[in-house]
Amino acid sequence: MERRRRVFVRQNQRTKSRCALAVRRSLSIVSKAITGGPSSRFSGDGLPGELIDGKKIADEVRADLKPRLATLAERGIVPGLAAIIVGDDPGSKLYVKMKGKASEEMGLAHWTVELPEDVSERRLLDEIARLNADSQVHGILVQQPLPPKIRVEAAVSAVDPRKDVDCFHPTNVGLVLIGRPRFAPATPAGVLELLLRSGNDPGGKDVVIVGRSNIVGKPLAALLMQKANGANATVTVAHSGTRDLPSHTRRADILIAAMGSPRFVRADMVRNGVVVIDVGINRIPDATAKGGYRTVGDVDFEAVRLKAKAISPVPGGVGPMTIAMLLTNTVRAAELSAES
Ligand code: GUN
Repeated sequence: MERRRRVFVRQNQRTKSRCALAVRRSLSIVSKAITGGPSSRFSGDGLPGELIDGKKIADEVRADLKPRLATLAERGIVPGLAAIIVGDDPGSKLYVKMKGKASEEMGLAHWTVELPEDVSERRLLDEIARLNADSQVHGILVQQPLPPKIRVEAAVSAVDPRKDVDCFHPTNVGLVLIGRPRFAPATPAGVLELLLRSGNDPGGKDVVIVGRSNIVGKPLAALLMQKANGANATVTVAHSGTRDLPSHTRRADILIAAMGSPRFVRADMVRNGVVVIDVGINRIPDATAKGGYRTVGDVDFEAVRLKAKAISPVPGGVGPMTIAMLLTNTVRAAELSAES
């Protein structure tokens, strides 16, 4: 099994090679092949492909944070994460609760600010300003989606970029694009960690991302195309306007499904030996399930797995990674604030 060096970013890198270091550090690249590395069997032989276990890999990412937390603790610093949630969307509430629980388990401080559905944009921005000014708060996230009358861009731009652990602020998005990330956006960074730590380095591969959201598709494309170890892929971003989508998905060495349509990617849309990362989290009605629904991804998991070399499940794939990367960014924010 290959083990790749961890590389630490310094701010203010000036040279091209230092840009590459920044990307690697931000992504916490360690390609320990938790799932056993590349499969030796013939893919497409009708046997299920390897499972890329997000829970296990997220545990590894969290374990890597422990020494960093200990170093901060020696200086009396406890990283703190504040989450703002507007309204009562059950999915969003669950995610915010999980983020709080994960912070607690890691020994991070955390706060949840709950605002009503009809809150004004002004009031939300005031709340963000209050958290920006609080030195105990190192990371701030505003859970999306927001109610229609609140402008997402106003909310994300109001967060101090140094506390923007979602990496949604325009300045941080720009830094990712030019290969000098301050933070790596959590879900895209989680996808990269899943690939690397399962022994599926995207370097030189044809990667097809389906979905062009600001949260996943666009920043993931930016990360994957960087000239850096652990990235360096040839990236196609397909979306609802793409003509003949299967002709693109069938070309993919690595297929990333992030369009938010339950079980959209069928077996006839992928080629034998593909590596699949499923970012979708969709609730579908299921009378036999507790609560009357169950969670599925954007991929027809069972059928696609029979053609895949490796595939991430839903749940238990990207979801735990998003949270682990959010914690990583919060620790990073605390380290940066200690340096400044
Ligand atoms: N909604 C869906 N994913 C995310 C995320 O990663 N961060 C925030 N703030 N909201 C989301």
